[in-house]
Amino acid sequence: MKFVKPGLKLNDTLEVILNERKKNGAFRFLRTPKEGMIDFISNDYLGLAKVRSISENIVEYEENGAGGSRLLSGNKAYHEQLESFLAEYFHSEAALLFNSGYTANLGVLSCVPQKGDTIYFDELSHMCIKEGVRLSRANYYNFKHNNLSNLESKMKNATGNIFVVVESVYSMDGDHAPLKELIPLCEKYNANLIVDEAHSTGLYGESGFGLCCDLEIQDKVFARIYTFGKAVGCHGAVVAGSQILKDYLVNYSRQFIYTTAMNFHSVKIIENAIQYRKKHPEVVEQLTKNILLFRQSINPGINKLESFHPIQGIMVQGNEAAIKLANHLNELGFDMRPIVSPTVPVNEERIRICLHSFNSTEEIKKLCDAINIYYS
Ligand SMILES: Cc1ncc(COP(=O)(O)O)c(C=O)c1O
Repeated sequence: MKFVKPGLKLNDTLEVILNERKKNGAFRFLRTPKEGMIDFISNDYLGLAKVRSISENIVEYEENGAGGSRLLSGNKAYHEQLESFLAEYFHSEAALLFNSGYTANLGVLSCVPQKGDTIYFDELSHMCIKEGVRLSRANYYNFKHNNLSNLESKMKNATGNIFVVVESVYSMDGDHAPLKELIPLCEKYNANLIVDEAHSTGLYGESGFGLCCDLEIQDKVFARIYTFGKAVGCHGAVVAGSQILKDYLVNYSRQFIYTTAMNFHSVKIIENAIQYRKKHPEVVEQLTKNILLFRQSINPGINKLESFHPIQGIMVQGNEAAIKLANHLNELGFDMRPIVSPTVPVNEERIRICLHSFNSTEEIKKLCDAINIYYS
């Protein structure tokens, strides 16, 4: 590493690296939300994380922790019951729980593609997809964002089994993968499609079962990864696919095998939150109204993301400019963060704004006014 100088103590070396990051305006640090800030930052798009009734009725804790990994003492009836429920909800033959979306993506991508196989992933994929393919023994290549001709030109050179990995909604841009068009392309090359549904879980479809089910293409997708930390308002993830895929992951996915199973409370909350979401389509209707209001209230000259998802963004060039605008909005009481390079490419820095069903009309109008005035 270019910063490592011989003879420096390790902590001094780390400090040199961190100082470089500070110089680039990209230093990350932890903070808790200030009292009274308006939430335009969380992924809790539907406010389910704050619905008390979702956890209130979980009165009988069978135990505080599962006590082991699923393959040892940790496999309980409540895990299997939730997996059956999720398989039905997401219209799959089988479902396998993971402790997070991060480990679910790692879990599938690191062990399903074999040596000599080829993986293609969208260049704007989440870090856990990039890490997952790196951990696999297959050859892997990215393709231009949502660009199927670029993907096809690369697929012509594939070896072994082919995998195409996309997100139904991209976490920084709020746009969709062209799933309907990807199906015939994958069929043409006999490729296996893997879809990360993190930002569509709970949002799309009548009951919130995500984009693949909404488009009725679920049976053509090899594996779907649903996460519960965003619109479902809790934690954890599930891989939906065939029984063979489930059996394979139970045997080979290190992220599934070598970790303590989810506890009773976490498992119950997932089911309760989904049941709540099914009974309350009005939260999605309110969110849709809020997205429209936001988009209509930002002055047309301001460069914003082309997104109709709760993930919205105001584009700003450079880390410094993004931090300056975010600080200004934070001071006015709006909680949001700048997204700076290297998280996004240079010159695509932005303020990421997450809209929610619980943001009031007044809050959204105030935010848009503040942005409009900043640019006037
Ligand atoms: C597209 C995508 N996949 C996976 C994850 C990881 O999910 P989790 O937060 O459950 O680990 C995220 C989280 O930011 C994401 O945006």
